Amino acid sequence: MTEEREERPASGLRRLVFLGGKGGVGKTTLAAAYATMLAARGERTLLVSTDPAHSTSDVLGVRLTGEPTEVETGLSAVEIDAAADAARYVEGIKRDSKESVSPEVLPTIERHLDLAKGSPGTEESALFERFVDLISLCPAEYDRIVFDTAPTGHTLRLLALPALLSVWVEGMVRQREKVAGMERMLRNLAGRDEPAGDPVLERLRERRQRFHHARHRLLEDTTFYLVTVPERLPIEETERALSTLTAGGVHVGALLVNRVLPERAAEGDFMRARLDQQREYLREIERRFTGYRTVRIEQDARDVTSRSQLREIAARLKDAGLG
Ligand SMILES: Nc1ncnc2c1ncn2[C@@H]1O[C@H](COP(=O)(O)OP(=O)(O)OP(=O)(O)O)[C@@H](O)[C@H]1O
Ligand SMILES: [Mg+2]
Repeated sequence: MTEEREERPASGLRRLVFLGGKGGVGKTTLAAAYATMLAARGERTLLVSTDPAHSTSDVLGVRLTGEPTEVETGLSAVEIDAAADAARYVEGIKRDSKESVSPEVLPTIERHLDLAKGSPGTEESALFERFVDLISLCPAEYDRIVFDTAPTGHTLRLLALPALLSVWVEGMVRQREKVAGMERMLRNLAGRDEPAGDPVLERLRERRQRFHHARHRLLEDTTFYLVTVPERLPIEETERALSTLTAGGVHVGALLVNRVLPERAAEGDFMRARLDQQREYLREIERRFTGYRTVRIEQDARDVTSRSQLREIAARLKDAGLG
């Protein structure tokens, strides 16, 4: 058995859980409720949010930072600041460049890197690096990690990133190996001794290893919960996300159908019409996503802003038997 396989628990439970879906469908709320449920049943859980609006801090009522903070027994949470991470990430590449490129081209590269700081691609890469770091804390420090991610498109790109980054790092490694080979030849010709190792190559190889490992975890040890609501556009988006995820080999655990109006709300023509429409959409969800579990979460009369509301949703997720 390989080391990577051992990270997958014997029960077949997947340790890394992503919640994704269209903007505003309830990812943050359900991620917090789900993490609350896991912690309540004794799993050491880390909730990871990437929302710059600090909505996870708001819903948990705790000011979170970029480092995991214990929120309650067994539940820690972290809020990643993608922009700040991106800036740090670029600084790291700059430091690496100093060792690997000639001083004449360095100012040009630095200018490009400064421009790249604010680009969405850089933020995604930085975010992915953070995800890789956090993933490595599981299972040593956390039994489960719950990722409350940005709207679907962004998350899907993030899941595809390890493959892209691996190709990129692979190319860099090969190039560096070629250069190292040439340097060795020149040194031999000049009759000089071998220097000990190549720090740039070492770092590249280490990165290649990290990405390879992360990709493996994302395929083998990850489950994705798609959050949706019984309305036209979110249903369409769910279908698109589902096919992209399954095509990419990512396991989809269930569809969480949030904000379902309770039937008891059928008072008056307006609400009756609204509920009729909702029933149609719920039937459509069952029809279009056959083969996938669906879990319905009721719309509360008020926004979910308290821990007791979170615990109610957590109980619902537990009753539904979510792993
Ligand atoms: N079941 C529910 N009942 C009542 N209100 C809910 C429910 N689920 C979510 N909400 C409310 O809907 C709003 C949006 O929820 P949330 O922030 O969890 O969505 P999101 O998908 O994370 O949004 P974003 O895409 O902006 O990150 C919040 O005000 C939240 O309190
Ligand atoms: Mg959110």
